[in-house]
Amino acid sequence: MDCLRISGGVPLRGRVAVSGSKNAALPIMAASILASGPVSLARVPDLADVNTLALLLGYLGVEVKRGANSQMRIETVDATPIKADYELVRRMRASFCVLGPLLARRGRAVVSLPGGCKIGTRPVDLHLAGLAALGASIRIEHGYVIAEAKRLRGAQIDLCGPCGPTVTGTANVMCAATLARGKTVITSAAVEPEVVDLGRFLISLGANISGLGTSVIEIVGVEQLAASDYTIIADRIEAGTLLIAAAITGGEISVEGVVVEHMTAVLNALEESGCHILRGHQQITLLATARPRPVHICAQPYPGIPTDLQAQFMALVSLANGQSTIRDQVFPERFMQVAELNRLGARIERSGSTAIVRGVRRLSGATVTACDLRASAALVLAGLAAQRETIVRRLYHLDRGYERLDLKLARLGANVTRQVEADALDMAELGSVPALPVV
Ligand code: EPZ
Repeated sequence: MDCLRISGGVPLRGRVAVSGSKNAALPIMAASILASGPVSLARVPDLADVNTLALLLGYLGVEVKRGANSQMRIETVDATPIKADYELVRRMRASFCVLGPLLARRGRAVVSLPGGCKIGTRPVDLHLAGLAALGASIRIEHGYVIAEAKRLRGAQIDLCGPCGPTVTGTANVMCAATLARGKTVITSAAVEPEVVDLGRFLISLGANISGLGTSVIEIVGVEQLAASDYTIIADRIEAGTLLIAAAITGGEISVEGVVVEHMTAVLNALEESGCHILRGHQQITLLATARPRPVHICAQPYPGIPTDLQAQFMALVSLANGQSTIRDQVFPERFMQVAELNRLGARIERSGSTAIVRGVRRLSGATVTACDLRASAALVLAGLAAQRETIVRRLYHLDRGYERLDLKLARLGANVTRQVEADALDMAELGSVPALPVV
């Protein structure tokens, strides 16, 4: 079990390239079940979550081979398996994205319900209602969704939930509709860049989809989808995390290989906090010359501030010269990082679905424990700014969604060391997901 030792106070400097997007790669890998030929993907990040999905696809008769330079080849070798087991789905909710593709391509799917999640109640009712509207019979037995349909048929489906549209719900329904008979219209569809990337991948397989990036997506079903070579978009959440790392350390970095348009709300908030931002071609340069200014952040569906950067912004404004507020409209309870940031000397209080952050002059290093992916990134950022040493335990949370963030930070001058930490409790909790062999 790894932990990260951080000696804080070093301003980050230099250039860093962003990896491919986790939240685009996962639904695209799952959608490869729909293809009748091989799929070659480029810019697939090397993450624990990607390995977990590859393992699940293997159980579903889909061979996944990793090549050099973030390449991946995916091909169905046996189209009979239809079960996605609890042991894998409980590890990673995005596994639920195999439901729509399995149902559409194989006519039947048995997929474990995802179960609990630390960031909030995360029902899948919209996914199931959408697939039922496409004509599938859906029942839940023994913790599994059992979905069946000889051939799905086009329908009108609205995917708006109490906290707005659903990202992976749009993914599941859009995938299923590609092979349905007739036209499907999804209203209140998610407009996240990752959903658009999935839609473009499906079109590269031969799907007939329009309206991507708007809240109304139209899909006209086709008989069959073919093969494809496709490159995954840049990870805007990783890019945002790296930019906030520079801001919190008073540094100057350039992030390369990003889609600048995907970052507008994030860059505006960073400018509000006092950073100087240079927007270039696929590149963003950030210069932080002073103590952050307080900002009021409200995480919202795209194009708003992503909920997946809310914790990192909280770490930044914990050092602001004044009071900030952080609200999350997507996951109103997503505040697991608060107690651990307060252990580093931050002054953060919860008031309902708002966190009030009274800025302090400095944070002081301590041992803290990560409890989910983005909260762990916030602790690493706070550790980069804190005086003396911070130890972030349970680093596996970070590795789920960041491709060697520690190495990227070290290349920017951060004083970080990854260390193995034997802790029986953690080992039992984690179990082991083998890394993918590079062929
Ligand atoms: C995706 O999760 C991302 N995961 C999340 O990133 C991200 O936080 C989230 O979208 C919001 O942007 C992947 O793409 C793999 P939602 P998803 O369905 O699709 C409610 C990370 O850190 N809802 O858009 O599961 C739900 O409870 C992860 O990388 C229903 O009510 O999120 C939430 O309040 C964490 N019923 C809201 O909608 C449903 O059927 C948005 O959730 C589905 C969702």
